[in-house]
Amino acid sequence: MTFTLPELPYDRDALEPHISARTLDYHHGKHHKTYIDTLNRNVAGTPYEGMTLEDVIRTSFKKKDKSVYNNASQAWNHTFLWDSMKSGGAGRPTGELSGMIKDQFGGLDTFRKQFKEAAVAEFGSGWTWLIADDDTLAIVSTPDADSPLTTDVTPLLTLDVWEHAYYLDYQNSRDKYVDAFLEHLINWDFAEANLEALDARSQLRASSDVSLAAARREYSG
Ligand SMILES: [Fe+2]
Repeated sequence: MTFTLPELPYDRDALEPHISARTLDYHHGKHHKTYIDTLNRNVAGTPYEGMTLEDVIRTSFKKKDKSVYNNASQAWNHTFLWDSMKSGGAGRPTGELSGMIKDQFGGLDTFRKQFKEAAVAEFGSGWTWLIADDDTLAIVSTPDADSPLTTDVTPLLTLDVWEHAYYLDYQNSRDKYVDAFLEHLINWDFAEANLEALDARSQLRASSDVSLAAARREYSG
């Protein structure tokens, strides 16, 4: 087995009453597991075996290996989803993210309104994300298995808007499921940690650029 189904970061009933244990039984135990199992069958004996999941996603996307890409991306997206929620979540972001949401969305209420509009408007199956593009935040939706991972932006949070994510609890009322996420479940600590990791990568890049520039000066001098 190349890839394994990660454990949920909380008990199956931890998100009740907003997301039931029964939904997580199916969503994590059946849907997420099936993406992992199918991916393992697809990559067996191929150059994808032994790559990181992120590299499988980026490489299969470029090569247009649709089945590998879809299952790898869904495997990654669901792991990111579980971390995007927590028991007793929502509340307010802290740290740098708090200021960025205020500056770029005008406040948390406007962020929630825009995220809900994007999640409800996504036609069919897909994902809605809060992403960072350097120091700019944005809300984007991706269809089917797609994620921002194949672009240069950094995902901070996601919500699965496939019907299997909410049908048992909310039937066809995606809007109520999105409200539950925004008002009770968002794991702002996870978003903040992703933003801090982006900042650290940017600083590392900036310091290598400085070293490179210093080396060029030394060489030409
Ligand atoms: Fe899902």
